[in-house]
Amino acid sequence: MSFKVQPAGPARPNRCQLFGPGSRPAIFEKMAASAADVINLDLEDSVAPADKAQARKNIIEAVNDIDWGAKTLSVRINGLDTEFWHHDVVDLIEKCGDRLDLIMIPKVGNAMDIYAVDAVVTAAEMAVRKTKKIGFEVIIETAAGAQNVDEIAAASPRMDSMSFGVADYAASMGMAVTGIGGTQDEYYMLANGEPGSDRATSMVDPWHYPITRMVAACRQHGLLPVDGPFGDFSDDDGYAAQAKRSATLGCVGKWAIHPKQVTLANEVFTPPAAKVEQARRILAAMQEAEDAGQGAAVLDGKLIDLASSRQAQVIVKQAELIAAAG
Ligand code: COA
Ligand code: MG
Repeated sequence: MSFKVQPAGPARPNRCQLFGPGSRPAIFEKMAASAADVINLDLEDSVAPADKAQARKNIIEAVNDIDWGAKTLSVRINGLDTEFWHHDVVDLIEKCGDRLDLIMIPKVGNAMDIYAVDAVVTAAEMAVRKTKKIGFEVIIETAAGAQNVDEIAAASPRMDSMSFGVADYAASMGMAVTGIGGTQDEYYMLANGEPGSDRATSMVDPWHYPITRMVAACRQHGLLPVDGPFGDFSDDDGYAAQAKRSATLGCVGKWAIHPKQVTLANEVFTPPAAKVEQARRILAAMQEAEDAGQGAAVLDGKLIDLASSRQAQVIVKQAELIAAAG
């Protein structure tokens, strides 16, 4: 039992976040023309150290000059363990107009990391008399970030969303895997049976635990939980399977590291018409039950009650949010 009402997340679609290196300005217009809800221009790991300063300039120019339509626009800064991040923050805040919505902070380890960035952002906003406050999205991608995900979620009113960064997480945890996300051949259950016999295997999801922890922290504090990258952009089925698992666990979207992944993400994270219709039937049946003074009812031979209404509301609200965003 808790007396704290769970806050709603930001009311905007976040089905797909399309990334592009800040050192590759030729793709910026293509990113703006894509069907992604969120654009992440990158200053971090897709930009070589020698290109950081030029990438910063490219991004500032693009934020100010390109028509990004109704998209949420974000820039991923460098990590707090680098020489680059404070220049990233100050330049972005002071030189970008109000079109920039979010800053993405990678490899966040605890609430103090957020405090540090918040202090620099706040000072920069004051210096140029900005009235629009920039929001933060963070990546949970280290052992520390996974352990401290709750305090990170609560660290600042600027917090808007969290993504799970699968490759850096695997490295930080010392996991015996390569590749960016997806199924891991060595992570499976073997059916009981005669040793040496041909026994059934079932694949298990090594990303389930940290994603679920992140979703809970996000939901508790009114942030959007987002699944991160899937590196093998030739494997559409693998991407869709990962996205479906994340959607089932409560994520609202997934990153795209190649434009062909945008359609896949939008498909998975837009509630299908049949699901929305079924959710509306549940709400109608529960309304009928309530009018008759009942707290529970039977629909298609199954029990539904007030919890079913809350589940149905999640799907209907998400569909309405996406429809309203056009
Ligand atoms: N956004 C928009 N358009 C992109 C794009 C992106 N991220 N990546 C490639 N394109 C464009 C290409 O310019 C090309 O356009 P064209 O048909 O007009 O010539 C088209 O999509 C097909 O590109 P393709 O040749 O398949 O890919 P590529 O070899 O040019 O680039 C990557 C592949 C993976 C290097 C590139 O997609 C990329 O840099 N992705 C983002 C990486 C990133 O930001 N990582 C950080 C987060 S993990
Ligand atoms: Mg990373």
